[in-house]
Amino acid sequence: MWNMLIVAMCLAFLGCLQAQELQGHVSIILLGATGDLAKKYLWQGLFQLYLDEAGRGHSFSFHGAALTAPRQGQELMAKALESLSCPKDMAPSHCAEHKDQFLQLSQYRQLKTAEDYQALNKDIKAQLQHTGLREAGRIFYFSVPPFAYEDIARNINSSCRPGPGAWLRVVLEKPFGHDHFSARQLATELGTFFQEEEMYRVDHYLGKQAVAQILPFRDQNRKALDGLWNRHHVERVEIIMKETVDAEGRTGFYEEYGVIRDVLQNHLTEVLTLVAMELPHNVSSAEAVLRHKLQVFQALRGLQRGSAIVGQYQSYSEQVRRELQKPDSFHSLTPTFAAVLVHIDNLRWEGVPFILMSGKALDERVGYARILFKNQACCVQSEKHWAAAQSQCLPRQLVFHIGHGDLGSPAVLVSRNLFRPSLPSSWKEMEGPPGLRLFGSPLSDYYAYSPVQERDAHSVLLSHIFHGRKDFFITTENLLASWDFWTPLLESLAHKAPRLYPGGAENGRLLDFEFSSGRLFFSQQQPEQLVPGPGPAPMPSDFQVLRAKYRESPLVSAWSEELISKLANDIEATAVRAVRRFGQFHLALSGGSSPVALFQQLATAHYGFPWAHTHLWLVDERCVPLSDPESNFQGLQAHLLQHVRIPYYNIHPMPVHLQQRLCAEEDQGAQIYAREISALVANSSFDLVLLGMGADGHTASLFPQSPTGLDGEQLVVLTTSPSQPHRRMSLSLPLINRAKKVAVLVMGRMKREITTLVSRVGHEPKKWPISGVLPHSGQLVWYMDYDAFLG
Ligand code: BG6
Repeated sequence: MWNMLIVAMCLAFLGCLQAQELQGHVSIILLGATGDLAKKYLWQGLFQLYLDEAGRGHSFSFHGAALTAPRQGQELMAKALESLSCPKDMAPSHCAEHKDQFLQLSQYRQLKTAEDYQALNKDIKAQLQHTGLREAGRIFYFSVPPFAYEDIARNINSSCRPGPGAWLRVVLEKPFGHDHFSARQLATELGTFFQEEEMYRVDHYLGKQAVAQILPFRDQNRKALDGLWNRHHVERVEIIMKETVDAEGRTGFYEEYGVIRDVLQNHLTEVLTLVAMELPHNVSSAEAVLRHKLQVFQALRGLQRGSAIVGQYQSYSEQVRRELQKPDSFHSLTPTFAAVLVHIDNLRWEGVPFILMSGKALDERVGYARILFKNQACCVQSEKHWAAAQSQCLPRQLVFHIGHGDLGSPAVLVSRNLFRPSLPSSWKEMEGPPGLRLFGSPLSDYYAYSPVQERDAHSVLLSHIFHGRKDFFITTENLLASWDFWTPLLESLAHKAPRLYPGGAENGRLLDFEFSSGRLFFSQQQPEQLVPGPGPAPMPSDFQVLRAKYRESPLVSAWSEELISKLANDIEATAVRAVRRFGQFHLALSGGSSPVALFQQLATAHYGFPWAHTHLWLVDERCVPLSDPESNFQGLQAHLLQHVRIPYYNIHPMPVHLQQRLCAEEDQGAQIYAREISALVANSSFDLVLLGMGADGHTASLFPQSPTGLDGEQLVVLTTSPSQPHRRMSLSLPLINRAKKVAVLVMGRMKREITTLVSRVGHEPKKWPISGVLPHSGQLVWYMDYDAFLG
């Protein structure tokens, strides 16, 4: 067998010498040579590499490897190699000749034990010695599950590194971890065996021709795009990958990963970074591309649970039960469909929605990145006089069409009313089937280009690996930045029940979604199947807002959603009244989780709110920098401030961070805030103070037994919380009690006990600070949801 290989190598070597000067020998070891990926793409990609490169001075040997014993492995590999095909324009005789050479250079070997790897190394060296070839490098392609990585990596590192002057490249296929923690662990493990520059992590979407064209296209059309590629002109960006297949046959993998880990964290995120990154001067510099990608990750706004919707095709759970032998009662929560709204908080993209969406069992297979531009033109002449396809009033969009769909091929589409693009000669103008409409316009409304020669992503990437083009691969930093972004969302969705969908065309409008104010939601209500319970069906009147008294003050109680909506209405009414009477409205807000829904409600449903005349104050703050996610100000910023137009000078964060230190007594932050209040708020009497109530009876950051803030002259105080971060700044009870109105919002079952207790106690602020809230001349109103009030 080895003699045959050596003869084949010599023949190939002579061929090379005829073509040009010899550049060295490359050994390619395909681990998992008989697996699915190898059969479908990798052997064909290696054959293409051989066709492209063998005539340019390199010689090759291909080692297909697996755990299977030699004879059986050889047979399986021969099967995998049967279907190799040549480019369409190659003469059949040539094709047969090349195939034959390739087959002679490709041998199977079992790689199982450390000795097997040592033998491989010995054989490569012996071949080189025999033929007198100089070694250029070795490529190890890991087409194996990640649990096998460590062993293989150790063996390669200890016995299969090439000699001095030759390179080693190891190619890794996803999954690269399951979340940030596991990805870091795997990366650290691999880092003990390989240098960063030796690792090529594959994201096969980076090898798709339309994706690989994003940066070159932006580069070649800089002039036209420079003024357009920003928040002033882009309406939204959609990055979509729809599939018709489902997860049958691979639920073992899918059950652990789900659609977000499977394709959003990697493929769609990579496309997003290519669209959004600041364009490097040299778009083929791997180092510059990586740096600019990382800048995008840094600017991504953190995802909230409300940033995503998830679905699952109906037969999925049944498939899981069957394939993974789960009991009949098992129901999976793994999403097979997800749409996520992403925002990039930088000057270029602030406010532009990026929508990432993917799903299995949908109505069509298609992938694209679509940049939809705003249309700010008004056409005076009637539509029949508009210049065909050129009118500024027609939709304006740029689409990197990754593949499939009605177009059936990769393409770049540019609306004719945008600009005539320039593409490299490897792309040609294309024509589609007559009458074809894409993204709301006929194909004739676009300049449309497709690759002269279509190439499979893996074959493109193999060529880049061979040429050491690292900009097409995922570095460790890039990978961890992506997991860093996705992990919190994945955790927050872990127990969320996905919406069930029937699959295919039957999905109808069930998965359609909308977005606003940073949130994404299904357009249609879930068609719920109600299981009738005993007793009469509930009537709408059963859910009315309940009005009563709590601690002698008015109480408003309802289910949480209704309660929030009532409170938001009351706040708006108070604001409107205050502005009408005094020209301004001073509102002091608490932090924490209860008011988040209120902030969102105010941000999304209160268009008459007089924000321009509202001053916002903080009831309390944690002693952390204002940019810290723990800071109350950050919560306010994320859920309210960034969605409303409020003058900057009307926003009054607490000065917890002065002289680069946090809440130091000497910096007198509390006194500064008190002075600011006295200067701006008449009589230091807020129009409205929104408070919460802790399970221990605390309110604002006034905790039981607090030595300060419960009485006395001080308006603002530093306090200590029993939970972290311990140090706080807070409005004092005397200041709160000067307010014209105080609203206390209490939500959730966890508050049930304290609600009962506080209903019975008198005025005992030392034990229960909330009991000291009693505005001198203002009004106190309690807002409690049924969970907190009725338990
Ligand atoms: C893979 C995912 O990475 O990409 C699959 O694991 C998905 O679930 C596939 O089907 C889609 O790739 P393509 O090239 O068919 O669009």
